[in-house]
Amino acid sequence: MARINDSFTKLSAGYLFPEIARRTNAFLKENPDVELMKLGIGNTTEALPKTLVQAMKDKLDLLSNRETYSGYGDEQGDTPSRIALKDYYKNYNVDLDATEFFISDGAKADAANIQQLFSLDSIIAFQDPAYPVYVDSNVVGGRTEGYDPLLQGYKNFVYLPCTEENNFIPQLPETKVDLIYLCSPNNPTGAVMTHQELKRFVDYANENKAVIIFDSAYSEYIKDPSLPRSIYEVEGAKNCSIEINSFSKNAGFTGVRLGWTIVPKQLVCQDSKEGQLNSMWNRRQCTFFNGASNIAQAGGLSALSGEGLKECKTLVDYYMGNAKIIKEGLESISLVCYGGENSPYIWAKTPNNMTSWEFFDYLLTKCHVVITPGSGFGPSGENYIRVSSYGHRENVIKAIASIKENFINGN
Ligand SMILES: Cc1ncc(COP(=O)(O)O)c(C=O)c1O
Repeated sequence: MARINDSFTKLSAGYLFPEIARRTNAFLKENPDVELMKLGIGNTTEALPKTLVQAMKDKLDLLSNRETYSGYGDEQGDTPSRIALKDYYKNYNVDLDATEFFISDGAKADAANIQQLFSLDSIIAFQDPAYPVYVDSNVVGGRTEGYDPLLQGYKNFVYLPCTEENNFIPQLPETKVDLIYLCSPNNPTGAVMTHQELKRFVDYANENKAVIIFDSAYSEYIKDPSLPRSIYEVEGAKNCSIEINSFSKNAGFTGVRLGWTIVPKQLVCQDSKEGQLNSMWNRRQCTFFNGASNIAQAGGLSALSGEGLKECKTLVDYYMGNAKIIKEGLESISLVCYGGENSPYIWAKTPNNMTSWEFFDYLLTKCHVVITPGSGFGPSGENYIRVSSYGHRENVIKAIASIKENFINGN
């Protein structure tokens, strides 16, 4: 008799985006003539950079020819792609070996799967608020007794609140933890950790034989050269950190799908030898994954080339132009805003102490703009909204104009 994996039933109801869709559709059903403007989901909207498109077309041509066709590639990614990534990190004075890179079909799956490397009784700390995948994958992984509505969080998990008081940068855990998920620039707050702030976590992890899972999916949005783009810029990080990144947000590969994870050979945890976690991830990928698309990898390779890097930067600058318009617009109606400087997300405080969902409903019904309620990213996200700068410029301008015109102090 088959039985379900009971851990799935522990996931708290309604993943954020389906609930947004439900409310949006209900409003549209009542108001079919309204044209909604979306500043919600972090999905890219602009065309792929030309050089990347050409590289993928060239790869397709090779695949169209029997003499140059290739099938399955290496599960870890093509060697030229791994070498190109290694060289890319040299720009930040980070020296890694190509065999420490594992190319994947995106950061989300890696962020969800990486917990498989660690014991079931690991105590895990999460930034709060955070990208929901870190928490949910550990719920499904069987590391919680269930959701606690009073705590608005899961039992057994350690939440590291990121609030106005600490500039949205988490404090070190007060109790001993084994794994720590960090995301910088953070989704949803847009906060970026400095070298010093990251160093505190790296030192903690090395002292406690803990492991940091560092998600740097938005690293290319960092404009301030003093801020670290990779955790490995911090001394000691290779001994205690795994880094996950993606081509989604800098190259527009949200639909093409390509990312990577770095598991340094130096990385150790309490009961592992040097190189063991790297071998385990290699084994995991070889067993459960058949390699990233060779077409996507051709695009990724060109995204790391001189011209590709330049075009990707232009794409990122476009979204950051949107971020500026959004932040200035929201501030002009006296909303308190964070982020949006080194990140595509603006983290805005709700007016009059409205809950995140109340302000979501207000913006939906009065301004016809869809945003993301902050509370969907964790308990400390309550009373905030996340506004995304992914959108066509003309739509962003229209959405902000509508908010400015129809917002009457949230009343
Ligand atoms: C913090 C963070 N990590 C990872 C991802 C997913 O990246 P990918 O498209 O490579 O799966 C996202 C997507 O929004 C994200 O916000």
